[in-house]
Amino acid sequence: MYAVTGATGQLGRLVIEALLKTIPADRIVAAVRNPAKASDLAERGVIIREADYGRPDTLAPALAGVDKLLLISSTEVSGRLPRHRAVIDAARRAGVLLIAYTSMLHADTSPATLAIEHRQTEQLIAASGLPAVILRNGWYTENHLLALPAALEHGAFVGAAKDGRFSSAARMDYAEAAAVVLANDGHAGTTYELAADRAFTLAELAAEVSRQSGKTVVYNDLSEAAFRDVLTGAGLPADLAAVLADADAAALRGALFDDGGTLGRLIGRPTTPMDHLVAAALRG
Ligand SMILES: NC(=O)c1ccc[n+]([C@@H]2O[C@H](COP(=O)([O-])OP(=O)(O)OC[C@H]3O[C@@H](n4cnc5c(N)ncnc54)[C@H](OP(=O)(O)O)[C@@H]3O)[C@@H](O)[C@H]2O)c1
Repeated sequence: MYAVTGATGQLGRLVIEALLKTIPADRIVAAVRNPAKASDLAERGVIIREADYGRPDTLAPALAGVDKLLLISSTEVSGRLPRHRAVIDAARRAGVLLIAYTSMLHADTSPATLAIEHRQTEQLIAASGLPAVILRNGWYTENHLLALPAALEHGAFVGAAKDGRFSSAARMDYAEAAAVVLANDGHAGTTYELAADRAFTLAELAAEVSRQSGKTVVYNDLSEAAFRDVLTGAGLPADLAAVLADADAAALRGALFDDGGTLGRLIGRPTTPMDHLVAAALRG
């Protein structure tokens, strides 16, 4: 049996969809914090089990009989380590044969604050002795495009990455990669740096939005502190704003760039180009 945690999230749902192409629904467990949010998956025959990282008592029943598990990293920007530890411990006790984990690009060397808990989770997985696949995902292109409405309104994207290059890919690309390593043998013991075939700067993103929208949109580079203030002003919690501004600054140092081509090779097709995602976002 295959299980995906966080399966009601955006990435998790895409992984379930990708798995359903080759795995029967009754062999897929959507391990979710809130089963009520997964009723559509239940209707399609996917097994729904409650699995709340913060309530370890839910994890043993959720993982009973599971052979291959995808642990999707928690959304909490700090304090996720105990939650990840609870899932890893439960997986070990349940006799899971493979655990895959959605880490962050270059988590072992990244200067980004966000990488710290990913690095620590990778170490917990290694210490658990479980056969594992580490999926070091780059940024989602969709993240950049969350700012699209504001960029169109104000004529500018803002950030603190200067001309740092982002090898951001579509969530769907990372989801397909996760499904590939779960559904096929031969990936245990591997750490994959997953990133788009082509990188872009935030100025190039702005130029593409200008080209497709017909409106002038530029990229305004700010200091890390000023960008953090913009994010909190837009309503983001202070801790999230801080790590996102920090990640932009880290991108300037190459933290979110990779040109190894591993993601495209894993999914057997080119990664989704940035201009396709811009077009989709502009269509709404
Ligand atoms: N690479 C990137 O650019 C990037 C960007 C953003 C996030 N991420 C990471 O990738 C993960 C998946 O991204 P996403 O876009 O799918 O995020 P998302 O749509 O916010 O989904 C997160 C999922 O995690 C679940 N979750 C949160 N806390 C949980 C808990 N205590 N116990 C069990 N489940 C819990 C949520 O459950 P509910 O459905 O009940 O809310 C949700 O299903 C994120 O959690 C984050 O670690 C990566």
